[in-house]
Amino acid sequence: MHVLLAIGTRPEAIKVAPLYHALRSDPFFRVTTCITSQHRELLQQMLSFFDVRPDVDLQVMQPRQTLADLTCSVLQRADKLLAETRPDLVVVQGDTTTAFTVGLAALYQRIKVAHVEAGLRSFDLQQPFPEEANRRLVDVFADYLFAPTDGAAENLRKEGYKDSAIFVTGNTGIDALLLATDIVRKQGHALPMNLPAGSKLALLTAHRRESFGDGLIRICQAVLRLLDQHPNLHVLYPVHPNPNVQEVAQKYLAAHPRIYLCAPLEYPGFVSVLAAADLILTDSGGVQEEAPALGKRVLVLRETTERPEGIDAGVAELVGTDADLIVARASALLRDGDSQRTVVSPYGDGRASQRIVEVFKTGSLRDSFCVSDRKEEAKTGVPAQSPNERTNKRLARR
Ligand code: UD1
Ligand code: UDP
Repeated sequence: MHVLLAIGTRPEAIKVAPLYHALRSDPFFRVTTCITSQHRELLQQMLSFFDVRPDVDLQVMQPRQTLADLTCSVLQRADKLLAETRPDLVVVQGDTTTAFTVGLAALYQRIKVAHVEAGLRSFDLQQPFPEEANRRLVDVFADYLFAPTDGAAENLRKEGYKDSAIFVTGNTGIDALLLATDIVRKQGHALPMNLPAGSKLALLTAHRRESFGDGLIRICQAVLRLLDQHPNLHVLYPVHPNPNVQEVAQKYLAAHPRIYLCAPLEYPGFVSVLAAADLILTDSGGVQEEAPALGKRVLVLRETTERPEGIDAGVAELVGTDADLIVARASALLRDGDSQRTVVSPYGDGRASQRIVEVFKTGSLRDSFCVSDRKEEAKTGVPAQSPNERTNKRLARR
């Protein structure tokens, strides 16, 4: 089977890497790896850590690229590539413009599409923007829908997707995380800054389009207020290279002596900071999945999330970009401790890539991830509420 893997951005590189290795180690598959270079430095950093060697580079990145420009260049270049290479299957991951556009190019070339991380829904096209639209669009033309969780699979069923195309695999991001934590454990990893004894560390990541401008400024103001209230607190912020993010971070945060702005960290370094942090503030999708698996609570700098499982498990909390709420909840976590009582990993068990390979080879999956809700349903006869339903009800009550 000739499989073409498409990778455009940092999170795609991380989440496709375990699948790349699983496919390449099996002689059943011929693998072509295509990077679009929607991201450049961010992508190279991850490809090199995970030893992913691309066969083709579509080289689309432009500074301050618009979504329309990006979509057009990826579509035209992917179309040409697929016409020349004619793979049996194109694999796209997640909700980026690369995933949507390469998937669309495959549809136009009548090539089958597999969507890894299918079925995530925030039910709001504006948040995350444009990712909610991207992931719904990819699902429309996918022949294989790899849902990371039961909740994601349920979203797909409710939208009328055939059960036979849906496979609950767990998230390949957790496969990558387990790989990196193993390396960190063996090799150790120093923090990128010196922390005085007795200090606490907050990790911040923020880069979403819907927060550009006022939202990001409010996040920065909340961080400054937190530092005022907690004299032993230090903040590490690896800043996304997007100029919309860089400019605000530099303007509002750079001068503070207890804020450390740095370039994006390579993966094991970032994972060690996640594990060491006393407080995690993020609007990242991937970090929401990784933190609970490392036994950490996380404050989500968004109004809504397509990853409700962490919220339902009580290990993630939506605080949006409201400075008062961020300061209040962050202070509570700093006071009470950030650790969960037990490590929960609602998003995966490290075997997602293995399951995807099994589906490609046999057309079915013997042991899917996270069937607890359905088992409970069978036992009690009461239909299980999906994580999204539970979360939406809770949000409506707030
Ligand atoms: C993209 C994804 C988002 C994902 C994020 C991960 C879309 C629509 N969005 O958002 O889902 O969460 O990646 O980080 O696909 N830039 C660089 N170097 C890089 C990467 C980006 O300079 O290596 C700058 C460029 O000016 C670029 C800008 O960042 O124009 C925005 O990049 P883009 O890929 O359009 O969007 P992201 O915000 O990174
Ligand atoms: N990450 C990293 N270094 C950093 C920031 C993030 O390795 O400096 C990793 C993080 O562990 C997660 C992924 O990048 O796996 C998340 O990427 P991002 O937040 O850019 O995208 P999203 O997950 O929001 O789509």
